[in-house]
Amino acid sequence: MEIKVKTEMLEEVKDGALCFFLLEGERPQDKTIRKLDSFLSGAVTFLFGSGDFTGKLNQTAVLYTEGKLDSKRIILAGLGRKQKLDLDKLREASGSLCKKAKELKLKSYSVFLPEIKLKGNSVSDFAQAIVEGAVLADYQLVEYKTADKEDLYNIKAFSLVDERKANLKVMSRGAELGEISANSANLARDMINHPANYMTPTKLADIAVSLSKKTGFGCKVLSLPEIKKLKMGAFLGVAQGSEQPPRFIIMEHKPKLKNRGTVVLVGKGITFDSGGISLKPSEKMGEMKADMSGAAAVIAAMAGAAQMDLPVHLVGLVPATENLPSGTALKPGDIVKASSGTTIEIISTDAEGRLVLADALSYARRFEPKAIIDIATLTGACVIALGHAGCGMLGNDYRLKERIKAASGKSGEKVWELPLWEEYDQQIKSDIADIKNSGGRPAGTITAAAFLQKFVGNYPWIHLDIAGMDLEEKGKPYIPKGAVGFGVRLFLQFLRNYSGYR
Ligand code: BES
Ligand code: MN
Ligand code: ZN
Repeated sequence: MEIKVKTEMLEEVKDGALCFFLLEGERPQDKTIRKLDSFLSGAVTFLFGSGDFTGKLNQTAVLYTEGKLDSKRIILAGLGRKQKLDLDKLREASGSLCKKAKELKLKSYSVFLPEIKLKGNSVSDFAQAIVEGAVLADYQLVEYKTADKEDLYNIKAFSLVDERKANLKVMSRGAELGEISANSANLARDMINHPANYMTPTKLADIAVSLSKKTGFGCKVLSLPEIKKLKMGAFLGVAQGSEQPPRFIIMEHKPKLKNRGTVVLVGKGITFDSGGISLKPSEKMGEMKADMSGAAAVIAAMAGAAQMDLPVHLVGLVPATENLPSGTALKPGDIVKASSGTTIEIISTDAEGRLVLADALSYARRFEPKAIIDIATLTGACVIALGHAGCGMLGNDYRLKERIKAASGKSGEKVWELPLWEEYDQQIKSDIADIKNSGGRPAGTITAAAFLQKFVGNYPWIHLDIAGMDLEEKGKPYIPKGAVGFGVRLFLQFLRNYSGYR
């Protein structure tokens, strides 16, 4: 989808459709919409009066211009009530417009910037959210369909339009940022949606390398001998059950300008989680191809950060392996030794995520970072706690948590904090080793985080449990069925704020 930004009068625009956002329960305040209404001899007023369109969030309506304007169609999209409006509602409404445009098989469409003001949000923020909604909604993975290709339909061009010349520059900047962040999220979606027979640890590493060349960050991939040399016994323990060799992916964005020290992102890269010897039930096991969603978010965020050239030294770490049962697989009762020297008793081979992260988090410490953020589809307990509305957040640094919450508000990717009280350490004490890899059912998300905490030392650290956010089951305005790509936009927003980027 090509993104254009223009200053143009309503009556000058010629496109597949002209689109406008409207609030619920109010007469349109926008001058442009009132002008549209008069061009269409009151059709907008008439539509509102009929009650068929009320401006409810994500509602759309199509009007035909009958030769009164150069464009054939108008699409109106509801934003819901003004008091409840936020950036994410605008992003959603823009996604709904895109879905409608796709339904109508339009090649291109134009969206007018709403004239509404929202406290704390600029014209650039608006432009970014609208572009993100469109680019995210247009996403689909086409590679595996060989028949019935009619459904595989993408919008060619999207234009963001405003009549006021004064807005052009800020609008363009916002659109540019929106395009990078949504395309980055779509990259993550591709990696996640690919099945595990394609998306092996080797393939994931190849993708990281190719993105590093394309967008200009550094990338080094460690194979078995090097991983062994680093004594990553926890990571190797998980990998030993699979025929596919593991990969440890190290990415680095080194800008000329770097204001604020190093940030390390760590992503869980289990390309398929069968549970190992502690085998999962077969129902829906296929969804465990998405157990590398954390890795995908980190790799895609590296690409986005490099494209924006964010003024922060950013490191991305991904331990990638499958978790399979076999004659060489890790067994319950086994003890492994992480690269930090900590010994771990294996209670369940299905608690593999924390094992691979243990070695990756230990590796993160060598950068003496100002912040470590890991992202992982770590626990089913997190899905029980928060469902599919947002991810869990735990950590050891109050200010870092506040920064993540602020980025969450802007990006619409919701995070909810869970406590990490010392009491939980009791649950992961082992009788025979230093710690064990499962604390049982109570507070499963928290004891997993308590486990990870053992490997970050005193560095400021945040853990995001995205277990409920890897796959979308039904489809939402800007999230088609399948991979969500959660965390990429959150990371990019966090890093922009963190680095003081404009
Ligand atoms: N990858 C799973 C967690 C998961 C569950 C992600 C559902 C997405 C949806 C993880 O490796 C796992 O199996 N966790 C176990 C941990 C337990 C054995 C301590 C779990 O949550 O059951
Ligand atoms: Mn597991
Ligand atoms: Zn897993």
